[in-house]
Amino acid sequence: MKIGILSRGSKLYSTRRLREAALKGGHKVRVFDTLKFGLYLREGEPDVTYGGKPIAHYDAVIPRIGTSITFFGTSVVRQFEQMGTFCLNTADSIIASRDKLSSMQALSRHDVGIAETAFVRNQKDILQAIQEMGGAPVIIKLLSGTQGVGVILAETNKVAEAIIETLSSVQQNVLVQKFVSESKGRDIRAFVVGDRVVAAMRRTASGQEFRSNVHRGGRTEIVKLDAAYEHTAVRAAQILNLKVAGVDMLEGSDGPVIMEVNSSPGLEGIEGATGLDIAGEIIQFTVEQVKFGNFNVRERLSLTKGYTVTEFTVWPGASFIGQTIETSGLRDHDIVVLRLNRGGQHIANPRRHRVIEEGDSLLCYGSQQALSNYLPERLTKKKRRRLKKIAPGDGGGET
Ligand SMILES: Nc1ncnc2c1ncn2[C@@H]1O[C@H](COP(=O)(O)OP(=O)(O)O)[C@@H](O)[C@H]1O
Ligand SMILES: [Mg+2]
Repeated sequence: MKIGILSRGSKLYSTRRLREAALKGGHKVRVFDTLKFGLYLREGEPDVTYGGKPIAHYDAVIPRIGTSITFFGTSVVRQFEQMGTFCLNTADSIIASRDKLSSMQALSRHDVGIAETAFVRNQKDILQAIQEMGGAPVIIKLLSGTQGVGVILAETNKVAEAIIETLSSVQQNVLVQKFVSESKGRDIRAFVVGDRVVAAMRRTASGQEFRSNVHRGGRTEIVKLDAAYEHTAVRAAQILNLKVAGVDMLEGSDGPVIMEVNSSPGLEGIEGATGLDIAGEIIQFTVEQVKFGNFNVRERLSLTKGYTVTEFTVWPGASFIGQTIETSGLRDHDIVVLRLNRGGQHIANPRRHRVIEEGDSLLCYGSQQALSNYLPERLTKKKRRRLKKIAPGDGGGET
């Protein structure tokens, strides 16, 4: 298999290790300096040059895009996606995870613990946001900081307000976040590859520092994660559509609290702390995934005129409650149930004899016309909450 690694430095630890692991697996591998690509767009023929010259087809690309080149780097990744090269993380998923607000927004509608966060603009909303977080001390964060830079602990409401006002006055967008003090300067980095946590470490901040980043002198140690942490990490990566992710979680009093999800997590700290061959895991996973490519189901399915994919929750009083998928009439109306979500369990490809219950969430593909007859009226917030209580969460598939 031919694997390309997009990286600014072939000598960087992570890049070196990925290259080594690919060679060890018997693959052809080349490290590309991301900034040396040229992107060419022609009808039906997206292409790239490298150092001004054409390059041969690559089966897979592993992006290691630093925050200083997010725009160009993700454009290169997107170009490879168009050319049919499997990209381990897609351009869109890298962009979404890099923005702390956008990633938290995406996570917030799901059943995973996240650090309570607010984003406000008007001066009079600042104090309210601080109070919503339980008042000082609060964390103030730049939207796209990294390695601990741009993360401030404000000890009093006054200081918090002043910092936010100052940063806003120089056109910096900032988040206000609840300070998870019970984590005591420690956090968990879970390294996710595919649907699995392949390694995890605990980082502990040094001295008076509250930030546990290794770049801020944080110490690392191997940690065995309990199920809740593993589940949260994998879910976060899935929600953000990242095949490889470093999920950072605080140890909150009620369990895992996600702070951020990194799309190009470093290997040095985690391989050092755990002694595991994570580069090998990444290469192996990449090779397994190549045949599936970067497939966007919704995009593809909606290319068929008049058809769509949608998900809806079975509302109280729906006519097909108590019916099986077969007798419900869905199939007769050209609607296929791809997945059923019930009480914390995702049931993939539910069988025709499965009975539909109130509160089930059905992911369907079908004719828009037919679906629109089936879709419930818009639910009120109260009703939605009630249904959520009946059908929270996620789980396995039907075999
Ligand atoms: N809400 C919070 N409560 C407590 N500690 C936090 C919180 N947010 C961040 N930290 C600490 O600051 C560090 C850096 O924050 P993070 O959001 O991961 O930014 P960066 O992208 O700079 O790593 C974290 O690893 C953690 O130790
Ligand atoms: Mg971090």
